[in-house]
Amino acid sequence: MLKSLILDGLDEIRDRILVGQSLSGVYDNDYLSYGANPVQSSSYQMIRKAFELSSGFGCVVDVGCGMGRFLFQMERLGYKGQLIGVEIDPTYAAFCELKARRYKNITILNIDALSYSIDKDAMVYMYNPFKENLARAFIDKLEAKRIFYTNAVLESCFVPKYKVTQRLNIPLNDGTPVPCLVLDKA
Ligand SMILES: C[S@@+](CC[C@H](N)C(=O)[O-])C[C@H]1O[C@@H](n2cnc3c(N)ncnc32)[C@H](O)[C@@H]1O
Repeated sequence: MLKSLILDGLDEIRDRILVGQSLSGVYDNDYLSYGANPVQSSSYQMIRKAFELSSGFGCVVDVGCGMGRFLFQMERLGYKGQLIGVEIDPTYAAFCELKARRYKNITILNIDALSYSIDKDAMVYMYNPFKENLARAFIDKLEAKRIFYTNAVLESCFVPKYKVTQRLNIPLNDGTPVPCLVLDKA
């Protein structure tokens, strides 16, 4: 309980530095019945690992960018490539778009990720954006070289098309470790 309160407080400070307000919490969107998961920000530890894994990639796509914590923190860590956030919900896409105006290398697309053709040389970041029906359809058409999949609850949708090259346990915002996978094109 105390640990969780301290972690919340730290995230709040980091979020305020990033965008001037908290990006914590879990929020419904209008696409839950379609198969979308609610909006919730990645933990800062997940983003730190994504930053390490992005070395050598000129573009990172956040599939379901929510409130944008991933994109803005990648920028703050010094990622120099192109950052693309794809978000189905117009309210959250508009929020990210507003906050991204000061960054030349961040682009927000308010579209369904299933209708977006991701460059094969990009690294894809997914913080458990959708349910199995959407995950299977998305992976079926994906050609990107690498996926970093955090809170990886649907591993079977990714294999055998992608090969698990690293298995990690990284804490969520509340400190609970969850499985995360680095998946490279088989
Ligand atoms: C768990 S949140 C992740 C937020 C963000 N990636 C982060 O790490 O801070 C998942 C997000 O995926 C979005 N989403 C779900 N299905 C989607 C789809 N088909 N296309 C684009 N975005 C989608 C949701 O609206 C939600 O904002």
